[in-house]
Amino acid sequence: MKKTLKILVRVLIAVLGLAVVIVIAAALYFNSNIINSEKRGKYKGPDIKEITDKDYTFRDLNRNDELDIYEDARLSLDERANDLLSQMTLDEKIRLLKGSGMKSGIGLGPSDEGVRGAMGTIVPIPRLGIPTLYLSDGPAGLRINPTRKNDDKTYYCTAFPIGTLLASTWNIDLVKNVGDAMGNEVLEYGLDVILGPGANIHRSPLCGRNFEYYSEDPLLSGEIGAAMVNGIESNGVGTSVKHFVANNQETNRNFNDVLISERAFREIYLKGFEIIVKKSQPWTIMSSYNKVNGTYASESPYILTDILRNDWGFEGVVVTDWFGGKNPPAQIHAGNDLLEPGTRRQHNALKKATKNGELSKEDINTSVKRILKLVLNSRKVEFYAYSNDPDLYAHAQVTRHSASEGMVLLKNDGVLPLKGQNNIALFGSTSYDFITGGTGSGDVNEAYSVSLEEGLTNAAFEINEAAKKVFETHRAANKEAFEKPEGTLTAMFTPYTPPEMNPSAKEIGDVTGTADVAIVTIGRNSGEGGDRVKKDDFLLSADEQEMLSTVCETFHASGKKVLVVLNIGGVIETASWKDQPDAILLAWQGGQESGNSVSDILSGKVNPSGRLPMTFPIALEDHGSSANFPMDGIPFSMVTMFLGENDKPADEQIANFDYTKYEEGIYVGYRHFDKNNLDVSYPFGYGLSYTDFDYKNMDIELIDGSIHITVQVENTGKVPGKEVVEIYVSKPNTEIDRPVQELKAFVKTPLLKSGESTEVIMRIPLSDLSYWNEDTSGWRLEEGSYIIHSGSSSRDIRLSQEISF
Ligand code: BGC
Repeated sequence: MKKTLKILVRVLIAVLGLAVVIVIAAALYFNSNIINSEKRGKYKGPDIKEITDKDYTFRDLNRNDELDIYEDARLSLDERANDLLSQMTLDEKIRLLKGSGMKSGIGLGPSDEGVRGAMGTIVPIPRLGIPTLYLSDGPAGLRINPTRKNDDKTYYCTAFPIGTLLASTWNIDLVKNVGDAMGNEVLEYGLDVILGPGANIHRSPLCGRNFEYYSEDPLLSGEIGAAMVNGIESNGVGTSVKHFVANNQETNRNFNDVLISERAFREIYLKGFEIIVKKSQPWTIMSSYNKVNGTYASESPYILTDILRNDWGFEGVVVTDWFGGKNPPAQIHAGNDLLEPGTRRQHNALKKATKNGELSKEDINTSVKRILKLVLNSRKVEFYAYSNDPDLYAHAQVTRHSASEGMVLLKNDGVLPLKGQNNIALFGSTSYDFITGGTGSGDVNEAYSVSLEEGLTNAAFEINEAAKKVFETHRAANKEAFEKPEGTLTAMFTPYTPPEMNPSAKEIGDVTGTADVAIVTIGRNSGEGGDRVKKDDFLLSADEQEMLSTVCETFHASGKKVLVVLNIGGVIETASWKDQPDAILLAWQGGQESGNSVSDILSGKVNPSGRLPMTFPIALEDHGSSANFPMDGIPFSMVTMFLGENDKPADEQIANFDYTKYEEGIYVGYRHFDKNNLDVSYPFGYGLSYTDFDYKNMDIELIDGSIHITVQVENTGKVPGKEVVEIYVSKPNTEIDRPVQELKAFVKTPLLKSGESTEVIMRIPLSDLSYWNEDTSGWRLEEGSYIIHSGSSSRDIRLSQEISF
């Protein structure tokens, strides 16, 4: 017995010992591979002298007391990068092709090192005086850790409105201005590249990251995206336009294979990126996780070299999405220059491939040179003395103003702006706990956020106490569910969705006595790693429906009005309930000043001028994409991300998980609804104003290969307002299958006073009317006649004219 016990104890000790060894080995592997893949000592900062030689002062980066070509900022970036490249060893080059790991991104490492919370790096080359560059999320504002250990200072950033809201402004100048403020925070917090904007197409209303993206239409996505890039980069910092390309679902995002026709790829999914590249030449583009027709986007020479660089002329750096792709040499060869966040496995794979000739020195030099040009162009290499103190107050004003301009008034039966209704009863948890943006890497760490309750109070409205008490009782009864997820990774991947309040008819009845008007807020949150679903998400939940109906019935019975505020990041069903309230304001998720922005509209301080960048369908199934989309949404798992199955045999592959067939082709969004003559709840481009506009004197002319369009717009209502003029083009007698109409230009007017008119001018290059011809693999412009429509939405066309060429 004693002996057996002894053996047992020994076995136990051996097992425990083995477990400890395994845990330590795993920790070491994880640390050296993923947390910190760069073994080099950190760059110790500039012991770098300034030298003046023949009236020119330069930084002697490699400390050789001479002016090297790469140190001479008067020379072209190309010459300087060539010189720097020629001074680098092969080992230094390979190191530069990948970041240094996730250390800073997950808040590890000493507090004074780097920028806490930055997600990636371009590694330093200390010998040549090249500092570390930092990359961090995007796209609704800079995402870094707001606090640092042993440091009283805070590093909050501004939470700007989500991408979808910015697209809803249809205002290029405004978006550029938002980008300018965002880029200033990137610069002043010592970062070099922000990981945004997001420019994927809203293929399905259920994609969990639609809020980060702009639109179902490539022209709107491209124009808004280019404005954002130009605004951010005007600060001397870079952007990373993501996720290139066809990353339209989050389910199995790391392995999903998008099966798509070349025409749909070119006309819809690539087009927005093409516009951005041509109009703003971003510093970087982030390749997406998914495959396209069998090849990972980050490993596709066709996408990253033939299309992106050869066809469009992209000159910058392509960065992987975090841990994206499988084969590092294939990625570099394809034109994916920088692997982020960088693992030791990638480093070893590149080294091996260089040795055995699988990866050519030429491929390495091409990618390294692109990275060097970015580095030499950065403010970091000038040792810009960032303040860590951007003007957050000024940026709060930018976000407040831009958010109110992108909110869309969907319905208004004479109730808005509020006049004389002072006491407001707020229903819906999100009224008190407003959602400022989505979750995941797109979530910003802002210093504060203004809820709807606070915004209305700031605007001198009274918040109905009885209604508030109902909410507070509900919150107290669900205390845990109202605690926001904490910890970098948990907060990133857990959307905060506390339960909706469910007031009884009596409680609502008690409120009507003291309230002048009711607001019911419907909230939705989603984010990276998961797609949305139909039940209780696209559709209102039973609690929400009941709350809305009872509030409407009870308030209407006492002659009082009800407004609905939609605090959502993506499309929801509206057709079944929109008749019940008197007004509906689509507030989106408007960043940290959201509550003030909504109040500015409700009070009439701002006249709404947002327009839908996507269609609100009657039923989810009406969307062309619904036949091929993961409608049941499978939540994100880290295990799948790192260890997911890559090459499953064809007969084991699951539709909409392992692959997704884009069978609807080019018929995405309004292109599909128009072609199939489907009624919609709210059409693409739709949005109401507190005033009316008249369209007159449309004139079109063909000048130097472009159609010039002028339209006169007059504010015929009583209050000042802005109008969006949308130009759609149709091709009668087309030889091919074409959409009924496509958005080809738009413009937002300045604020027009009552009775004031303006002439808006737009230009459409004829080449923009081309379609992708699959027989010849090229763009083709059909000759003949086209109809140019100017409208206030895709289904509210005011003037049309024919042009032939
Ligand atoms: C996301 C990217 C993000 C990156 C770094 C990835 O999981 O897909 O959008 O920029 O992480 O946080």
